[in-house]
Amino acid sequence: MAKPTTSFVCQSCGNSTTKWSGRCDACGEWNSIVEEAPLSAGPSAKSLGATKGRALALSALSGTEAPPPRTTSHLAELDRVLGGGLVPASALLVGGDPGIGKSTLLLQAAAAFAQSGLKVVYISGEEASAQVRMRAARLGLRDAPVKLATETNLRDILTTLEAEKPDLAVIDSIQTMWVDNVTSAPGSVAQVRAAAHELTSFAKRRGTSVILVGHVTKDGQIAGPRVVEHMVDTVLYFEGERGHQFRILRAVKNRFGPADEIGVFEMTGTGLAEVANPSALFLSERGDPTPGSAVFAGIEGTRPVLVEFQALVAPTPHSQPRRSVVGWDGGRLAMILAVLEARCGIPFAGLDVYLNVAGGMKVSEPAADLAVAAALLSAREDVALPPETVVFGEISLSGALRPVGQTENRLKEAQKLGFTAAIVPKGGKSVPTGGIKATEIDALASFVGDVFGA
Ligand code: TYD
Ligand code: MG
Repeated sequence: MAKPTTSFVCQSCGNSTTKWSGRCDACGEWNSIVEEAPLSAGPSAKSLGATKGRALALSALSGTEAPPPRTTSHLAELDRVLGGGLVPASALLVGGDPGIGKSTLLLQAAAAFAQSGLKVVYISGEEASAQVRMRAARLGLRDAPVKLATETNLRDILTTLEAEKPDLAVIDSIQTMWVDNVTSAPGSVAQVRAAAHELTSFAKRRGTSVILVGHVTKDGQIAGPRVVEHMVDTVLYFEGERGHQFRILRAVKNRFGPADEIGVFEMTGTGLAEVANPSALFLSERGDPTPGSAVFAGIEGTRPVLVEFQALVAPTPHSQPRRSVVGWDGGRLAMILAVLEARCGIPFAGLDVYLNVAGGMKVSEPAADLAVAAALLSAREDVALPPETVVFGEISLSGALRPVGQTENRLKEAQKLGFTAAIVPKGGKSVPTGGIKATEIDALASFVGDVFGA
C-alpha cells in the first residue's frame, strides 16, 4: 500500500501541493501554505458494496415534480433571498466580514423560523451562552423558542443534533468547529472542510436544514469559507460598509432559487430591521442636483433598485493619476474612461477620478455603464445632469449603447420614486410613455452632445 504522504494546503484558497513554498501558485497569497496530515485512509473503492449509487430511470423517481416545501420566516427580505423560504434538508453558508452582523442576523432568523413552527437549535462556538442571551435580550427575542448550545467539538454537536432532531441548526461559526480525527488547528482549511462535510451530510441524512456562518478575512489566519461553497446548496454573502448602517444579504449561489437576489437590512440599536423599499433608502441622502451625481435604475435579482453614482474629477498633482472606485468594478471604469476618450474625444489624462456608489451598495450590472459615464462627464464638465432623471444602458467598446433587460421595471420604479425623465438606450423593449419621459439614444457621443452640448 502506498505510504500516505502529507500535503501542503494553502489556507487562503485550499489549493493542495506536494511541497511547501512561500507563495501559493494558485492564488498568489504569501505565507499561506501549511503542512497537513493526510486523512486516515478509508476503505478502497473496490471493497464498497455495489448497492449504493445504483442508477434509476429519471421517470421512475416519484414526487420530484412538486416544488420543495418551504418554510417562510416572515422576514420578507430573508425569504426573498432564500428563493421563497427555507427548504428542508438544505445546507446554507452565510459569509461575511467579522463584525458585519452575521450572528445578529442568524439569531433573528433562528427566532423567526422558530416562530414559524420549526424546531431550531443555535450552536455558538464563538460566544458564551450568557453573551448570546444578552444579544437575544437586546433584539427583543429573550423568549424566542430557540434552543441554544455552546460547543466547538463536532462530535458533540452531532450527538446533540441527533438527540434534538431539530428542523434547523445554525452553526456560528464554521471556523470555530473542529473534527477530532483531523490534526490541523481549528480554522484551517482541512478542519473547515471536514466540519462542513460532516454537517452537510448530516443535513441530507436527517432532513435538518443547516446554516453555517463563515468569516471571510484577508489574512491567511482563518480559512475563507470558499472551500465550503461547493459543498452547500446556497451561499449568501452579508455585505455592507462599516460606516453605513445598511446591510445587504446577497445570494451568490442558490440551488433552490434565483442567484443575485438581494435583501436589504438596516443595523439599528435593536438589531437588523428590514428595508422594504431600498431605492428610497439609497437615494435618501441625495440633495439638490449636483455635478458628478447620476441616478442609475438597476435590477438586483428580481427587483428594481435605484442607486446614486457619485464621481469626482480633479487635476492630479501626481505623474500617475488616481483611479479610485467603491462599489463598482475598477476594470469597467477604465474601459468607460477609454471609450470616452477614444469615441467622444473627452480625455481624462492628468485627472484624478473617484467613483462611488452611495449607501455602500455594490453594483455589478453592465447596465450601469451609462450612469457611470454620465456621472464622470457631469463631474468633469461641472454641470449637473437634468433633475429627476434616471440613466441606464450598457456601453460597448465602439461607443454604441446596447439595450438592457427589464426597461419597463426600471422605469416603473423610477416613476414610483418621483422621477420624471429617463435616458435609455435605443431599442429597449416596451418603453412606457405615461408619467415618465424616456429619451432614447443610440451612442455615447450623442448622449454627450444632447446632455452637455459638447
Ligand atoms: P455581530 O452579529 O456580532 O457580527 P458578526 O457575527 O458578523 O461578527 O454584530 C456586530 C456588530 O453589530 C457590532 O459592532 C454591534 C452591532 N450591533 C448593533 O448595532 N445593534 C444590535 O442590536 C446588535 C446585536 C449588534
Ligand atoms: Mg459572530
